[in-house]
Amino acid sequence: MISEGEIYGQIGEDGFARLVAEFYAQVPTDDILGPMYPPDDLEGAEDRLRDFLVGRFGGPQRYIESRGHPRLRMRHMPFKLDQRARDRWVQLMDRALDHAALPEESTVLLRQFFHHMSTFLMNSPG
Ligand code: HEM
Repeated sequence: MISEGEIYGQIGEDGFARLVAEFYAQVPTDDILGPMYPPDDLEGAEDRLRDFLVGRFGGPQRYIESRGHPRLRMRHMPFKLDQRARDRWVQLMDRALDHAALPEESTVLLRQFFHHMSTFLMNSPG
């Protein structure tokens, strides 16, 4: 079994880029998440999530260099993240993981991370 820090070594830039592209391809038409994301800067949002994940899982620290400390709970405060939004985000990311068809070990670790992190980010009871 690999550790979280070895995921970048296993899937590389390309793996993260494909995963995040599969996720954002679903966002614009999603009835809950679509309205939350900036329609004129979806590419920027895609870059930010990709760079964050790359840095978090053993790759270059581009996210911290350009955005500073992630402080993800604070950065998500402008959005209403209730159980419904959390579950939808996870659903889209689970589907993205299926489509990206990354190596099994990386897929298991990433899926766990997304499930935990999205629960941690919830900031509204409904
Ligand atoms: C729980 C459901 C979630 C919702 C509804 C949500 C929604 C959003 C929205 C609307 C943005 C602003 C888009 C932008 O960057 O311009 C954003 C940013 C971001 N989200 Fe989430 N998010 C969720 C969960 C997560 C999770 C689990 C992660 C961690 C993998 C994450 C990581 C990020 C990052 C890194 C940014 C960019 C922050 C920045 O630098 O400004 N989000 N999210």
